[in-house]
This record gives sequence, C-alpha cells and structure tokens, in this order.
Amino acid sequence: MTAPLLEATRLVKHFPLPRHGLSRRGAVRAVEEVDLAVLPGEVLGLVGESGSGKSTLGRLVLRLIDPTAGRIVFEGQDITALSRGALRPLRRRMQMVFQDPYASLNPRRPVGEAIAEVLRLHGLAGHDGGTVRARELLAHVGLSGDDYPRLPRSFSGGQRQRIAIARALAVEPKLLVADEPVSALDVSVQAGILTLLRQLRAEFGLAMLFISHDLSVVEAMADRVMVLYLGRVMEVGPVRAIFTAPRHPYTAALLSAAPGRALAHRMPPLAGEIPSPADPPSGCVFRTRCPFALPACAETVPQLRAIAPGHSKACIRDDLSL
Ligand SMILES: Nc1ncnc2c1ncn2[C@@H]1O[C@H](COP(=O)(O)OP(=O)(O)OP(=O)(O)O)[C@@H](O)[C@H]1O
Ligand code: SF4
Ligand SMILES: [Mg+2]
Repeated sequence: MTAPLLEATRLVKHFPLPRHGLSRRGAVRAVEEVDLAVLPGEVLGLVGESGSGKSTLGRLVLRLIDPTAGRIVFEGQDITALSRGALRPLRRRMQMVFQDPYASLNPRRPVGEAIAEVLRLHGLAGHDGGTVRARELLAHVGLSGDDYPRLPRSFSGGQRQRIAIARALAVEPKLLVADEPVSALDVSVQAGILTLLRQLRAEFGLAMLFISHDLSVVEAMADRVMVLYLGRVMEVGPVRAIFTAPRHPYTAALLSAAPGRALAHRMPPLAGEIPSPADPPSGCVFRTRCPFALPACAETVPQLRAIAPGHSKACIRDDLSL
C-alpha cells in the first residue's frame, strides 16, 4: 500500500472565546478529532456548510495555525510540533491557494516579480534572479511571459488566480491546499481554472486538499470526498459513492439542497440553523437537524466506521435508505 503524503490523526482546533464578565470562557470547536490521509497525487475534496471547519483544517495541516491536539505527518515526518524555522524547508513541499487571489498578491509588485521572489526565497532562482523561470511559469498557467511587469490590478479575477497558482507551483510542491479557489470567480471562468488545476496535477503528480462549498466543483476535481459538519467528519469515501449513494443523512441533505441536482435523494431540505460551534449538540452533532435522529443519537459521539472499502460514515443507523 502506498504511504500517505499527508496524514492527520485526531486533529483538534479550538479557538478560545473572549471572556465576557464573569461567564466561563469557552471555545469555538472548529475542528474535532479529524482523521485524514492524502495519498501522493490524490485529490481529497472537503465539503460542508459555511463554518464547518474546512479552512481551519486546511490551515492546520499546513501548520499555518497550531493544532490544539492531534498529530500531523507529512512525507513520513511528524510536523505537529516543528518550530517555524524547522518548518521553513518543508514550506516548499506544501503550498496554499486561496479564494481571493487579489488579497494574496501585493498590489504594487509586478506579478512576475512576485513569482521570482518566491523562487529566490527558496534558493531556486539561479543567477538571473528567477526572471526566466517566472516568465515560463506565467506562460505555463495560460498567461504570457510578457505579462511579467504588469501589476495585479491589470488582470481579471481568473487571470489573477492563474498567477497565484503559478506562484504556488514555482516551488514544485507535492501538496496543494486549494481553499475555495474558484468561488470568487464568474462561473464562465471557473471551468478554465479547474482544467488548469487538473492539468498541473497530472503534470506534477500534485496531491490536493481541495476545499469547496460547491459540490459540483468538488465532484469535478476530487478522487475522494470528506464531508464535515461542525468540525467533525460525517462521511468520507470515493467521489462516485459519495455523490451517487451517500450513506450519511447529512451528505444526503447537502446533495438534496444543491442547485441543479434534482436527484433521487428523498431528504427534506435541512431545517434550521447550524448550532453554534461553541456549544455543539451532545452525541451526534447533526442530531438537531437530522430527520432520523433517535434518543440514542444524543448519548455518544458516533465514530467513523467502514461501510464499504474506503467508505466510512459516522452515524449509528444502518437501516436508512437515503
Ligand atoms: N481565527 C479564528 N478565531 C476564532 N474563530 C475562528 C477563527 N477561524 C475560524 N474560526 C471559527 O471556526 C469555525 C470554522 O471556521 P472555518 O473558517 O474553518 O469554516 P469553513 O468551513 O471554512 O467556512 P466557509 O465555508 O465559510 O469558508 C467557525 O465557527 C469560525 O467562526
Ligand atoms: S447518528 Fe443519529 S442523528 Fe446522527 S446522522 Fe445518524 S441518525 Fe442522524
Ligand atoms: Mg473557509
């Protein structure tokens, strides 16, 4: 069996809440006991409603924020407690692309320089200061080497995302965390960026943690899909199984609610709001919105268990037809 490129075990992230008067200080439980593995070259899609902990999980595995508990292993090395300095050489191997490329590009720096700078930072620039390679990278993502001196504002949103991708790939990473990389773009532009990411993945053997609240985007990109709710994994499995035969009520509800998916799932739309992650329900965190909840669902937190090869769910009921 291939060793995972990235493996997280029982990962937890709590953000402490500011104290109010005499009230006890609590915490936002953004990520709770998440296990995940990404194989080399594999795309793991991460879905879930807003606030389910997708971005927090992406930042945790790259050690951009520190976990409250749990373990992160990258390329066989335990990186959970590595210092900033010790992480530095590893940064080359794991990169992130964000939703808003404009926010991650310096508005006053020519885009080619932004790429060359990253090459220099990682000692990959050569005697020309990385300019030749930066031009090549711009061309590689569907722009032109002649775009080197232009400023970010002179590009469209889609072009800026291509520049952000070129910059992330300049250091030849093995893992890319893509956090809603097309969510800010016009639908007409999205497909081009997804095609580019697929090409680059094939070319560089790039593995991805691909985060999106848009199910059709995840379906187009991912090999496997992980469904998060209130920081916990509800279901994980092969993309086809998740989209055609979901086994967790929350996954079925998400699919039923997705636009353009008039499919056979007979779930009613999700009722009510997501509970506060500072005060999640006992037992199964989905139980307050689950049409199949039983008294037992409030008792213990359902653990993820295998229901088919590579397919697991965290739900105590096996008698549901979703
Ligand atoms: N730095 C922070 N400080 C305090 N709370 C935070 C912080 N970052 C995230 N949270 C909280 O953690 C929870 C998970 O947030 P996160 O951004 O990971 O969700 P998400 O699934 O990415 O949502 P979205 O789809 O809106 O991007 C939310 O309740 C959020 O308010
Ligand atoms: S454990 Fe209970 S509440 Fe949770 S998803 Fe399953 S049936 Fe619904
Ligand atoms: Mg997010």
